[in-house]
Amino acid sequence: MQHIEQYQKPFLKYLERFTVHKEPQNLYQPINYILQLGGKRLRPILTLMTAEVFGASAEKAMDAALSIEVFHNFSLVHDDIMDDAPLRRGKETVHEKWNLNTGILSGDAMLIMAYQLFENYDSSTFQDLAKLFSKTALEVCEGQQYDIDFETRNDVTIEEYLKMIEYKTAVLVGAAMKMGAIVAKASDADQNAIYEFGRLLGIAFQLQDDYLDAFGNPETFGKQVGGDIIENKKTYLYLKTLELGTEADTVSLKAAMNNAELSHEEKVGSVKALFLKSGAAEATQKAVKAYTEKAFEVLETLNVDAAKKQGLLLFGEQLMNRRV
Ligand code: IPE
Ligand code: IPE
Ligand code: MG
Ligand code: MG
Ligand code: MG
Repeated sequence: MQHIEQYQKPFLKYLERFTVHKEPQNLYQPINYILQLGGKRLRPILTLMTAEVFGASAEKAMDAALSIEVFHNFSLVHDDIMDDAPLRRGKETVHEKWNLNTGILSGDAMLIMAYQLFENYDSSTFQDLAKLFSKTALEVCEGQQYDIDFETRNDVTIEEYLKMIEYKTAVLVGAAMKMGAIVAKASDADQNAIYEFGRLLGIAFQLQDDYLDAFGNPETFGKQVGGDIIENKKTYLYLKTLELGTEADTVSLKAAMNNAELSHEEKVGSVKALFLKSGAAEATQKAVKAYTEKAFEVLETLNVDAAKKQGLLLFGEQLMNRRV
């Protein structure tokens, strides 16, 4: 973990300086709350690591890293409203602690702050960062809309699901890394390769997130375990159960998902049993591994020396095995 702490510590220091004590407090307090709530800080760490891989200092990439983390936290505030989530990082979500309007407006402000951080770069870097940011942020919106649309659809395919998670999650991981490469003024080929590495890692990351949403430890996962099942999310676990399960399994799964009489606990319990029995849980873990390995193949094509790639490899392996 040494290599991660080396980036996490200075990033957290930088983040602390970003705290705003301004009026109106009901706008800024929730922003400080969510940003200081913890979290793994994966995306900014990736930005800093990538900048160094391509020969820039981590300090130079600090504003881009912060921008990514502020955007990520904005997306979580709005996501928790959309998913009706009570818990984030083991604490109350913003809209639960304050209210819906606070969640909406504080989130809006964070999106603008994220963009504003690019002003600290020279005009050519600014332009590249802003362009990537706008494209990525719009894709995240598209992914989030698909995720919501799928809740009420019964014919979602695995292909559609993979596109949805690519947009809602993976493109931001790709962009976090490409921003490090932009700050370091890496070649276009390297920028594209590192984006692709991040995108594949991001798909693996969301597959693992879906797995943990059902099978994570409620004590440490920090989110409401079973939240996706309660919200009728069409996750990989769900879609694979339909594919791999017996006819009886698919009937039971659909019945459990659509039975409003069941308590949340009963629903989550029976759906999780089907995820396991059908082999879908195992298939999800296999897919996490497969996407991580695909990412590693892309890493091999990168024009940097092996020692520098080592940190990224290690990081990818830790993500694949994460429990929180
Ligand atoms: C949560 O992301 C949202 C997803 C895309 C799954 P993280 O798991 O990185 O959340 P924090 O920042 O560490 O809390
Ligand atoms: C999160 O997807 C994607 C974004 C926030 C854009 P999820 O809804 O699965 O994330 P969690 O599980 O709430 O962290
Ligand atoms: Mg959510
Ligand atoms: Mg969501
Ligand atoms: Mg989730």
